[in-house]
Amino acid sequence: MKILLINGPNLNLLGKREPETYGYTTLSEIVSSLTGYAKSKNVELLHFQSNAEGELIERIHSAMGDVDAIIINPAAYTHTSVALRDALLGVNIPFIEVHLSNVHAREAFRHHSYFSDIAAGVIVGFGAKGYYFAVDAAVDMLNKQN
Ligand code: DQA
Repeated sequence: MKILLINGPNLNLLGKREPETYGYTTLSEIVSSLTGYAKSKNVELLHFQSNAEGELIERIHSAMGDVDAIIINPAAYTHTSVALRDALLGVNIPFIEVHLSNVHAREAFRHHSYFSDIAAGVIVGFGAKGYYFAVDAAVDMLNKQN
């Protein structure tokens, strides 16, 4: 089983960026621990982070036929990007949307997502733990498919 984790803009600053909202754990700490966690479930976890919309789209395209599921935190693109939404629809790979913060308890512009209605599921508000929940959910979902 192969899962691609994608993190969008500004998430490279995790740990330093508004830590009261996003936590003190860095992205590399999350990814290395999550990779080990995934491995314990026989999952190969790939990771990609970019601040550029086009790069995120290209990475989704190249996942076609290669990965079984995508876990994505589109960050600010959640609320703006029809292009990323179309990329996920285009490759037809099931995906789980993750947000560290509870976007519904924040500014109104964060309440709408271009992804939630086409996601297999959405995990919001549990900080970095949400990524682990997403791995569990993806494994469960893929096991039910096969
Ligand atoms: C975020 C929530 C978004 O609204 C914000 O733009 C982010 C991070 C989260 O993980 O809570 O960059 O996706």
